[in-house]
Amino acid sequence: MSDFIRHRRLRHDARIRAFVRETELSPRDFIYPLFVIEGEGIQEEIPSMPGVYRCSLDVLGPVLEDIENLQVGAVILFGIPKEKDSLGSGAYAQDGIVQRAARLIKETHPGLLIIGDVCLCEYTDHGHCGVVRDGEIINDETLELLAKTAVSQVQAGVDVVAPSDMMDGRVFAIRQALDEAGFINVPVMSYAAKYASGFYGPFRDAAGSAPQFGDRRSYQMDPANGDEAMREVESDLAEGADMIIVKPALAYGDILWRVSQKAACPVIAYNVSGEYALVKAAAAQGWIDERRLVNEILTSLKRSGADRIITYHALDAAKWLAERER
Ligand code: PBG
Repeated sequence: MSDFIRHRRLRHDARIRAFVRETELSPRDFIYPLFVIEGEGIQEEIPSMPGVYRCSLDVLGPVLEDIENLQVGAVILFGIPKEKDSLGSGAYAQDGIVQRAARLIKETHPGLLIIGDVCLCEYTDHGHCGVVRDGEIINDETLELLAKTAVSQVQAGVDVVAPSDMMDGRVFAIRQALDEAGFINVPVMSYAAKYASGFYGPFRDAAGSAPQFGDRRSYQMDPANGDEAMREVESDLAEGADMIIVKPALAYGDILWRVSQKAACPVIAYNVSGEYALVKAAAAQGWIDERRLVNEILTSLKRSGADRIITYHALDAAKWLAERER
């Protein structure tokens, strides 16, 4: 009988399924976000992100150990300063919270790759990602502050800078400033395709970075647009970006796929806070099998073209992968 095709042959048992599997996850694929906060003895769980904590530097040790032991690919740092001001000066302070975290991690865990999220919104009192005047977010004046932030992070030990502000020309400005400061070998991982998304809600709770007026739609992209993402990616690569982030991830598989087909560089998916919160909330109700869903989500992002994934599930997923190996 050969008048139909038996696809099920390659699904018949676990050995053959493992043998033909096209997409495999590894802990090295994951980038774990760390929220570092000023103060001492602070380890606060973020209510909308169960299992994710804001940590002061003195309590970071155990989580850094886990990241290293589980062989997670990298960490990305987000800072929560004590004071905010209109120009977000905490972002580029020599002793800013991210700068201090980077120094500490370099000293205690020199094997970890440290990515610095470069943005002003966690440090500005108005919560926007740029300089504000008369209710407008001013592009060109913001560039200098972003460049200063990137250089100060790298001086403190950050290995890769990741601008997430969505100002035009920031990759160019940051590349130029890094080169002038002698950091020619520090890569820029650009949030090139970053959408104005409702999926960032829990992050803004975590970082206290919700805009105090208006929204981010004049700089982050309209979720309805795909071609525009391609233009953003093209210009960021032309300005010197070494790697590209697509964000959010789950509702943007088409963008991930298009970018990965077009851009001959590492492509990173950001599996954002709201995506994490949905999974955790449903799991807490017993409505879904968390472990299974996380594996499916992360695998799907890789299948969609992501080379690496920024995810709050990184430590759990890495543990589950290690358990499977045993
Ligand atoms: C800073 C920044 C944000 C996120 C990463 N960097 C917030 C925003 O743009 O409002 C969101 C990450 C997440 O939701 O997990 N600009």
